[in-house]
Formats: sequence, structure tokens, C-alpha cells
Amino acid sequence: MAKAVYNLLLSLCLVVVIPTLQANILENTTTYVEQHFGTVDDEYWKERASVARKLSENAYFPDPHALTRNFTLTVQKDIASSKKIRRSLSGKQVEGPCEATNPIDRCWRCDPDWESNRQKLADCVQGFGRKTTGGKGGPIYVVTDPSDNDMVNPKPGTIRHAVTRNGPLWIIFSHSMSIRLNEELMVSSNKTIDGRGVDVYFNKGAGITVQYANNVIIHGIKIRDIVPGNGGLIRDSEEHYGFRTRSDGDGISIFGASNIWIDHVSMRKCSDGIIDAIMGSTAITISNSHFTDHNDVMLFGANEQHTIDKVMQITLAFNHFGKRLIQRMPRARYGFVHVVNNDYTHWEMYAIGGSSNPTIISEGNRFVAPDDNNAKEITKRVTNDDWKDWQWRSMDDVFENGAFFIQSGPEMKTRPFGLKDMITPKPGSYVQRLTRYAGSLKCRVGEPC
Ligand SMILES: *[C@@H]1O[C@H](CO)[C@@H](O)[C@H](O)[C@H]1NC(C)=O
Ligand SMILES: *[C@@H]1O[C@H](CO)[C@@H](O)[C@H](O)[C@H]1NC(C)=O
Ligand SMILES: *[C@@H]1O[C@H](CO)[C@@H](O)[C@H](O)[C@H]1NC(C)=O
Repeated sequence: MAKAVYNLLLSLCLVVVIPTLQANILENTTTYVEQHFGTVDDEYWKERASVARKLSENAYFPDPHALTRNFTLTVQKDIASSKKIRRSLSGKQVEGPCEATNPIDRCWRCDPDWESNRQKLADCVQGFGRKTTGGKGGPIYVVTDPSDNDMVNPKPGTIRHAVTRNGPLWIIFSHSMSIRLNEELMVSSNKTIDGRGVDVYFNKGAGITVQYANNVIIHGIKIRDIVPGNGGLIRDSEEHYGFRTRSDGDGISIFGASNIWIDHVSMRKCSDGIIDAIMGSTAITISNSHFTDHNDVMLFGANEQHTIDKVMQITLAFNHFGKRLIQRMPRARYGFVHVVNNDYTHWEMYAIGGSSNPTIISEGNRFVAPDDNNAKEITKRVTNDDWKDWQWRSMDDVFENGAFFIQSGPEMKTRPFGLKDMITPKPGSYVQRLTRYAGSLKCRVGEPC
């Protein structure tokens, strides 16, 4: 019964989605920018855009394969050492006092003092976003007030006040809270939003925007039921507020931004994308997160006119793409996406798609196809062009229930993760283990998390 209602809702949603999608395919960058922040003649945003573009260009890693090689090796080493530990405890079913199952988590989760060493988290990021430090080195800002009533002069103690301050800040929450954002939350550079130790929901309001900003960590929060904000005057930094048009309803919108790390976030039901990264955003890692109940999950590159997206480099690692997801995990244009050790257990249309010749390296993931015989293909090229040369490669992925990945483009000549003597993992079983704690964690002060 519930399922039937759900299917009905779903088909209604799809009907609505098609015209919206077409509306989103805007003719050119100028129109796109105008729609997103009023006018391109705004001097303030012009300046921020040009600073951000330089940062994106500097963050771009010209030899992505070298980085890929490094990253994957760490995973394998980690598995090898955890195996050794298990063997030395042979006979006992001991998991150890803390069960961090992947190298990012292992860097901080087992520290019982994580609460007093919160900023240590910033040392743990891997992949393309590995230089992200967020608010490290800055003071702790404690959000005490879940309200969000004044968009221009936010009250001290609110999240909007915190993210619009200048300088690095490590933002935490005094108690569990549910925050309904009245308008998109404009996060400025050098910030960490750290929800560990309490339950923080961004619920039923507008989403989080990182626009022409740099160096942001979002960790340990839940984002759900996000709707568009109506737009209006919104503060984006200590010295500036300005008019914003209606927001898209993305959970997290990354717009011309670089060095972004999203980790252990649980997200569902946003009215546009769950996470969109567009307009030359790069140096991004999305890890350990759990996604459910959504149609267009991740859009990396919004338009083929945006050739700036060639600098886009994004790592997706240890995420769980879970129940009731439909498509775009991700859908990419131009950039380089490393999809490593993620668990794809549900999709209704396809998992990974793209257009405009993106590079997609899929390694060590598990793909469990839906029962629908028309949706067994993981990949989707949204194009009339010849895509045979696009480099979309699958290595050590595990396919279940008839899932298949159509590869294209040149093979990786040297396997990017290949030290010959390393144990070749059995990907399926490892992925479930590596992603076991995906989503926001229940951390208690004084205990390993
Ligand atoms: C982009 O679109 C705007 C508004 O439709 C138009 O004025 C402008 O000439 C277009 N620019 C290009 C390069 O096509
Ligand atoms: C690869 O890892 C080594 C050792 O951890 C480090 O010194 C080096 O900078 C890394 N290379 C890249 C490209 O990140
Ligand atoms: C962010 O921090 C870096 C490093 O301290 C600094 O160079 C940069 O100016 C900061 N950005 C902003 C917008 O404050």
C-alpha cells in the first residue's frame, strides 16, 4: 500500500521534473549567472568570482592519475593492516574497541578525545579535496539558536551569523537542533560545520550554498526535505548582503567554489539536486555520506557552455547510495570524477551518467541493479555525440543482480592503483565494510566515535 502510494507520488514527481529540467538547460553562462545572483554587473560578486576562479585554477591537479594512484593505495594498505590485526587476534571475534573501516575514518574516529581535538578532522581528508582545511586554526563558534529569522542581520548564535563571519571558524552546536533555513545559507570561505556529538537537522527549509568561496568542510549533519528559498536580500559575508533570486532547492549547492569536503552527511529529499557542483567548482571530496529518497542526486557541471568545468575534479569515496534514488550518482560534464569504493544498492534509472566528455574512473565499487530489466545499465551517456572516446573505465567493481557498466575510451595503461604485489581486494565484501558507517554518526563525548 505504502509502496503504491510512493510509486504514484514518484510518477507525479517525474511529470513535474521534465519541464523543470528543460528550464534548467539555459542558453548560456550569462543567463545562468543572472538567474543565480541577479546581475553579473554586481561589482562585489564579480570580484569574488574572479578570486574564486583563480583559486579553482590553482586547485586543479594537472595529473589526476597520480592522485588517483596515491589515494587508492592508501585504501589497500589500510585493508592489509586491518587484516593483519584480525589475524593476530585469531580465534577471537574481536573487532577492536573502535571500528573505523576506512582510512578517512581511521584518522580520527577512534580517538576518545575527538571532542577536544575537533580540528584534527581537517587532517583526514583524502582524494581531490585533500587540501581542504575548513575552519582549522580558527576559533570554535557554538551555534546555540536554531532560528533563522533575519537574513540581513542574523542574530549572534545562529548558523547564519556563524557562516557569514570573516576568517576561519570551526562551527559546532550546543545541543541537538532542527534548523529550517528561510533562505539559502550562504557559507563564506574557511568554515567547518561540524555536527558531531549532537543531532543537527537542516530540515524543510532552503539549502546550503557555497558560492565563489573556498575551503569549506561540512561534517556530521542531516539534510532533508529541502525546498527552494523565495529569494530576497541575504547576507553572504560580514561586509556584504545582496539580492538573490529564488534558490534551486539543492541540499548543497557548490558554485564556482574549490576545496570542499563533505563527510558523514545524511541527505534525502531535496527538491533539486542533493549536491550540485557547477561553474568551475573543483578540489572536492564527498565521502562517507548516505543518500536516499531522491531523483537527481548529483549534478557536476550544469551546462555544456560552461567549459570552465574542465577544471572540475571530484572524488566520491565510501558513500552509500541507498534506497529510492533514481538517477545521477553523479551526472558529470567535462570534469574528472573518481568514484571509489562506494556502495550503490539502489537506483531506478541509472547510476552514473554524463555528457560533454567527462572522465569517470570507477574503482572498487559495488553496483546492485534494480529488478527492472530496463535499468540494469549503470552508465548513461546523455548525448547524440560520439562518446566512444570518453574515458569511462570500471576497475575491480562488483556487479550484482545483472548490473553492467559500459566502458569507453582508452584503458588505463598503468592501473592507477597498481602496486603489483598488493593483495587484490574482493571488492564486494570490502565495500560493504568500508561504507558500513556512511551517514552522520552518533558520537558521544569521551568515547571513540
Ligand atoms: C546569452 O543570453 C543573453 C540573454 O538571453 C543574451 O543577451 C546574450 O547575447 C547571450 N550571449 C551569448 C554569447 O550567446
Ligand atoms: C602521495 O602520498 C605520499 C605519502 O603519503 C605523499 O608524500 C605525496 O605527497 C602524495 N602525492 C600526492 C600527489 O598527493
Ligand atoms: C581563507 O584562509 C586563507 C588562508 O589563511 C586566506 O589566505 C584567505 O584569504 C581566506 N579567505 C577569506 C575569504 O577570508
